[in-house]
Amino acid sequence: MRRIRIFDTTLRDGEQSPGASMNVEEKVQVARQLARLGVDVIEAGFAISSEGDFESIKRIGGEVEGPVIASLARAREADIKRAWEALRDMEESRRRIHTFHSTSDIHLKHQFRISREEALKRSVQMVQLAKSLVSDVEFSPMDATRTDLHYLAEVVSAVIAAGASTVNIPDTVGYTVPAEFFEIIKYLMENVPNIKDTVISVHCHNDLGLAAANSLAAVSAGAGQVECTINGIGERAGNCSLEEIVMALRTRRDFFQADTNVRSEEIMRSSRLITKITGISVQPNKAIVGANAFAHESGIHQDGLLKEKATYEIMRPESVGLGSTRLVLGKHSGRHAFRTRLQELGYSMPEDELESAFQRFKRLADQKKDIYDEDLEVLVSETELSRTPEIYSVVELHISSGTSEKPTARLRLKISGSEAEHTSAGDGPVDATYKAIAALTRTKSTLQKFEVKSITGGMDAIGEVFVTLEEDGKSVRGQGADTDIIVAAAKAYVNALNKLAAKKAQGNELRPEL
Ligand code: KIV
Ligand code: ZN
Repeated sequence: MRRIRIFDTTLRDGEQSPGASMNVEEKVQVARQLARLGVDVIEAGFAISSEGDFESIKRIGGEVEGPVIASLARAREADIKRAWEALRDMEESRRRIHTFHSTSDIHLKHQFRISREEALKRSVQMVQLAKSLVSDVEFSPMDATRTDLHYLAEVVSAVIAAGASTVNIPDTVGYTVPAEFFEIIKYLMENVPNIKDTVISVHCHNDLGLAAANSLAAVSAGAGQVECTINGIGERAGNCSLEEIVMALRTRRDFFQADTNVRSEEIMRSSRLITKITGISVQPNKAIVGANAFAHESGIHQDGLLKEKATYEIMRPESVGLGSTRLVLGKHSGRHAFRTRLQELGYSMPEDELESAFQRFKRLADQKKDIYDEDLEVLVSETELSRTPEIYSVVELHISSGTSEKPTARLRLKISGSEAEHTSAGDGPVDATYKAIAALTRTKSTLQKFEVKSITGGMDAIGEVFVTLEEDGKSVRGQGADTDIIVAAAKAYVNALNKLAAKKAQGNELRPEL
């Protein structure tokens, strides 16, 4: 059985999805979940692209145990040095520099205006530079699937000789199809003399909806690493989705004779976390993680399932972490039970944060009879996110509303340490609350999106609110959770304002086009 390495690029290519930008705290939280999921490599960012990416790579390297941590770098000296600075404090065996250069004629002619020889020379030189800094170097010939195959083989061979321990073959524009990609990888496996000195990786985009199929074809042809993202988020139509590749290999181990190290039971939790942080919802019929992926509607199917699950079910929902919703704790549970369940779920946090999460758990248990794993995830997430410096926080909110009175909100906010109060009227209680927040913070941002979800079922479920704010072309997403939906809405707005303030403080980001 071959072991296929999973290289997760949710925090780098995934973050290139429009509107998916994450702050440092959120990236650390995602990286922790990716480590629990058991991915082999986390591409934590693109060090030179922004201070935020640089800081995220450094923090993830220092705080997240397990996977190799990679930083992306163009084939330029400054990029590689910046990647090295972000990784240098980590243990040597866990740091990877991933450098890339376009190789297709279409890119070389129109974008770079250089010859094939020059592109090859730069690629080799930059792999050598990266290799002088770390032993684990990955090289990607960008737009490989539109590159002349003989030249591609020449580049692959040269970068292996220069020290690339992984060579990634990207289908940058999502152009290839499975039979063709199989042939490309097979050709490289058979015609690059030093191919055994490297791991061949693949990185497929989903423009034609073929990213997972193309990646699987490459695995059949000999690729040993697949690059992917949770929920398939990423540039344009996204990247190969992690859950699809992992479950295809696991479910059809008989066919591929290959598997990964991923703990598939963590898939749903990872998917929910990404949706929550990025605000990008999963379509209901999305394979593996869509709301309908395990729902059987047809009477004939239901009849079969009742007789024998295998009739219509190729994967057990439990194997991806579904159906694991269970009553864990309640009003009478103590610190020990709380801590133990968090540990079972794979969370560990410093004693003071655990205590503050426990206090919030107690308050929640007063309002909500049954506490499920999903509720605990919200508590942990709030605790982890509370590490983000807050300028604004909600101190008190009083709402008066009804069928025969004008909704009003009296709100007390803490603003940079001192408290201020304001009362506003609105079309509804949320509108009144938002007007009070806007008046107190004097924000110039506009509300682009407002969504409400319930975490678990039942009348006393926690409600989660997500808002997207925009100001001067910068967009941020805030979240808030509470058993009272108006309080959750207030928290979400305030959370977004805190993120906007942090983003403004960070200044402009360089987002090199990929
Ligand atoms: O799609 C692509 O080509 C990339 C490279 C940087 C690997 O994301
Ligand atoms: Zn990509």
